[in-house]
Amino acid sequence: MNDRQAYGVFGNPIGHSKSPLIHAAFAAQCGQAIDYRPLLAPLDGFADSVAAFVAGGGRGANVTVPFKEEAYRLATRLTARAERAGAVNTLVFDGQAILGDNTDGAGLLRDLTLNLTYPLAGRRILLLGAGGAARGVLAPLLDAAPDVLTIANRTATRARGLAHDFAAHGTVVGGGYDELAGQSFDLVINATAASLGGELPPLPGGVFHAGSLAYDMMYGQGDTPFLAFARRQGAARLADGLGMLVEQAAEAFRVWRGVHPDTAPVIAMLRNSGPDGDPAR
Ligand code: ATR
Repeated sequence: MNDRQAYGVFGNPIGHSKSPLIHAAFAAQCGQAIDYRPLLAPLDGFADSVAAFVAGGGRGANVTVPFKEEAYRLATRLTARAERAGAVNTLVFDGQAILGDNTDGAGLLRDLTLNLTYPLAGRRILLLGAGGAARGVLAPLLDAAPDVLTIANRTATRARGLAHDFAAHGTVVGGGYDELAGQSFDLVINATAASLGGELPPLPGGVFHAGSLAYDMMYGQGDTPFLAFARRQGAARLADGLGMLVEQAAEAFRVWRGVHPDTAPVIAMLRNSGPDGDPAR
């Protein structure tokens, strides 16, 4: 190991992660001497991999699929937002202590409100999915005071459970896709894993109106199936999750290094970096 402080991203698989590129760009921009690398952990060996990284001098790490819930359990202390999310995407190592944080919600909010200049107060929001990705962004979305937030999920009971869990944060209802008939929304966020398999959540027509923003937390080359559907349905604006990816990384960088990088040049660099592999979180 060189004299740069060591960071990285744990996942499985991890080969296609853009995080090393993003953090290298942040480090160069901010003049921070860090070394950030992809860290492949065996599916049954996340805790051991973290321990080995810490023993080797690791100062912090991001965590991606499928280890965010395990990272939540591994942390010895949690931030309030990680507690609410029930998942951890950012770890800070300090001796024996492991702080678990979650920057995904903040990343989505910054992308929506700053990069896309889309204020959320008073909006009708539809959140698709009721897994970890949806849970991680619910509290910050509700804290932005939308008119209503509706969660739709293939397994309707999961959406209802999530709405119940977050009822203290605002007006939130959950149900199945069939319950969306006849309703339209200002903002529709896809937090399902459907795009990963090239699939489309079973959305009824009519959920988009002419002024709607369609936001897919996934990204890839060209439109995801969700964004292609939204385009056909006449949504006014489309956005993929690349901005959220860079924003959650910037927030993690701030947690570790105390400085918030300028994200715009890094988003632009990734947009211009040409075709690459699979769509990913
Ligand atoms: P994550 O942590 O990525 O959210 P997860 O907890 O496995 O992963 O949740 C995946 C989400 O995507 C769930 O809401 C899932 O719906 P179910 O709860 O009904 O399984 C949703 N999902 C996955 N594939 C989907 C598809 N083809 N169409 C609609 N929803 C899908």
